[in-house]
Amino acid sequence: MSAGGEWLKVCGVDDIPVAGARVVRVPGRADIALFRTLDDRVFALHDRCPHKGGPLSQGIVHGARVTCPLHAWVIELATGSALEPDVGMVACIRVRSEAGEVFLHREDLRRDALRAQLIADAACAPA
Ligand code: FES
Repeated sequence: MSAGGEWLKVCGVDDIPVAGARVVRVPGRADIALFRTLDDRVFALHDRCPHKGGPLSQGIVHGARVTCPLHAWVIELATGSALEPDVGMVACIRVRSEAGEVFLHREDLRRDALRAQLIADAACAPA
């Protein structure tokens, strides 16, 4: 990854398989799944299904949706929402692609780092 402004460059668009996904791992933060659609749109979601935490990056991308590999919930890539009749949402990371490069919004990554720290603190707190 490289640095610059409020956006963090993470990879090239071509590093993400068409109609597939790639995982971005950032120490201390939730894994992020980058999805690329057939028409080259790129989306970024936490790589955890809102159902039981399945790896969405290993799901099947169809249109602007992904089907979770574990129990087949369908998630909208633009919003992170599960399609009815299922109910749930996975966090989205603002993403943009420009000149063949993919960038994630730093503020969203910081938000995730804070959330991860709060969870770790809660897990370590005495009962
Ligand atoms: S964990 Fe994704 S559908 Fe169950």
